[in-house]
Amino acid sequence: MYETVRVSEFLTLRFLNLVNEVFADYPLRVEWDLFSFNQDVRENSISLPDSYVFLKEDRPVGFILCCIRRNRGRIDSMGVIGEERGKGLGGKILSFALDALKNRGVSSVVLEVLASQEEVVKFYSKFGFRVTRKLVSMIKNVPKPRSSVRFLKSERESIHRSALEAMVKLSRRPNWQREPLTLLLSGDRYRMARTGQTLVGYVVWGRGEENAFIVDCAPINDESTYAEFLDQAVNYVCQVEGRSVCFVGNVPEDDPLYRAAEQVGFQPLFEQYEMLLQL
Ligand SMILES: CC(C)(COP(=O)(O)OP(=O)(O)OC[C@H]1O[C@@H](n2cnc3c(N)ncnc32)[C@H](O)[C@@H]1OP(=O)(O)O)[C@@H](O)C(=O)NCCC(=O)NCCS
Repeated sequence: MYETVRVSEFLTLRFLNLVNEVFADYPLRVEWDLFSFNQDVRENSISLPDSYVFLKEDRPVGFILCCIRRNRGRIDSMGVIGEERGKGLGGKILSFALDALKNRGVSSVVLEVLASQEEVVKFYSKFGFRVTRKLVSMIKNVPKPRSSVRFLKSERESIHRSALEAMVKLSRRPNWQREPLTLLLSGDRYRMARTGQTLVGYVVWGRGEENAFIVDCAPINDESTYAEFLDQAVNYVCQVEGRSVCFVGNVPEDDPLYRAAEQVGFQPLFEQYEMLLQL
């Protein structure tokens, strides 16, 4: 009844129309254009040959985008158009992709789902996914940003090394979207800076229409300086971007960045669950 086509063999613009239709009623804004889609593909290691579109009588009705890093997989997103939901297609798509990932040597699959979407959490649970932790998106007002520490723009490769070092030294467990490899693969999408002497660390950030956002931030050697360093980084980032609001997305509740964000006054905006399946 359904035809399955790899996303790598499907016209990208047609694929993006399908995704935008599926997410039209989604509580978070998901709107890819060609440029931002390609950035996300590279940065998150989305494997287009391992991602699929499902067609019904030539009409695209569902999709799944899968990421692969060695033996670890991730479902970046999946969905079915409104009128086809609740008829078993979502389950078919997920089973199909999980089988294919297993055949590719993937042994664990992670995904994120909005905590408020109980039906979707239930849907993934039926396939064996279990909630591992909460990811919290947070916001802070910075009315008069001013940093007293000197930040210097830095290259991706050097930030990648620092992020790896911080991960080990500070026992971090970053989520997929802020793993050191993600930062390395992000091209010139974000800005990156580091500090030298007293308070040693790095920050990776971007600028939205109304706010600055931090992709990742960590001191490198000393976890006890996390909140102080984050505070300086938030002020620096808001100052250089001319923004008075700072956002940090999907922070794992068991990552020291989360405690630091709470300490410097970030307020929770919404929560996601990270879910994991061992194949
Ligand atoms: C989640 C989603 C992919 C499920 O696809 P589907 O084709 O409706 O799924 P199935 O028919 O195989 O399974 C239906 C189950 O999904 C759950 N479900 C979640 N959202 C649903 C929806 N909007 N309509 C119907 N069922 C939904 C139900 O709990 C149902 O469980 P049940 O079989 O015990 O009644 C689909 O609802 C969707 O595209 N939602 C919008 C995008 C989204 O939330 N994607 C997931 C996060 S990236």
